[in-house]
This record gives sequence, structure tokens and C-alpha cells, in this order.
Amino acid sequence: MKIAIINGPNLNLLGMREPGVYGSQSFEDYYQGLQKKFPEIEFSFYQSNIEGELINEIQKAGFEYDGIILNPAGYTHTSVAIGDAIAAIKAPVIEVHISNVHAREDFRKISHVSAKCKGTISGLGMKGYELAVTWLKDNLSP
Ligand code: DQA
Repeated sequence: MKIAIINGPNLNLLGMREPGVYGSQSFEDYYQGLQKKFPEIEFSFYQSNIEGELINEIQKAGFEYDGIILNPAGYTHTSVAIGDAIAAIKAPVIEVHISNVHAREDFRKISHVSAKCKGTISGLGMKGYELAVTWLKDNLSP
């Protein structure tokens, strides 16, 4: 089974960025542990701060991978185009947010992607990525 993890803007700064909200672990460290936990899964990881690059990656992974785990970060709340890209591809997408977007500012309650995704995990920290992997593993045939 092949799973693509795609992270949006500012998530390259995880570990340094607002640790009170996002924790103190870098995504690279977390990703290493995730790969060890699921040795049977072929992962790829992509991060970009640029909306169009994220769309290119969603389009590519959407026809090459069995599932996508996407944290669109700030673009969640602004990007109709990322929502359209999710609707256009074959692979199911699980939206993950490290923080609980519903417990923060009102603008974070708006998502242009949630309705196009299989489901959303929000507020469970980095563990949300692992839970998304488990769901894809248990519910998709390779
Ligand atoms: C985030 C939540 C977004 O509102 C925010 O813009 C992010 C990260 C999260 O993982 O909690 O950059 O997607």
C-alpha cells in the first residue's frame, strides 16, 4: 500500500513554530517514527509553502497512491483550488490538523477542503497522521 503525506505552508517549521500549539517535534523526526511503525507501507512525504505546488502534488499523488494524508495548513481556510484538486483525483484524502481548528479563531472554522475529504482529524496533535494511516490501512485494499 502506498500513502502520500502532503503538508502545507509553515509546517516545515514544526518543532520551532508556536510549540504551545503545534508541539516541539519536527515533522521529519515524527515521519521517521511513522515509517518504522508501518514498515509494510510505502510512504512519500512532500511539503510546500506554495499553493500551486501543493495542487501539482495532490494531482500527481492522487493517481499514483492508494491514499493521501493532507494537512493543507493555512490554505485549508482559503483555497477553493485545493478543494477542487481533492475532488478531481482518484485517491481518498484524509485531512489532518495538529491543532483543534474549531477551538481557535473563527476563520479557522471555515474549510474549503473538508467536504471533499473522506474524513478529518483535528486536535489530536501529530498522532492524527498515525490515526489517518491506520484508517487507510484498515479500509483500503492495496
Ligand atoms: C493547522 C491549522 C491551520 O489553521 C493553521 O493555519 C496551520 C496548521 C494544524 O495542523 O493545526 O498552519 O493546519
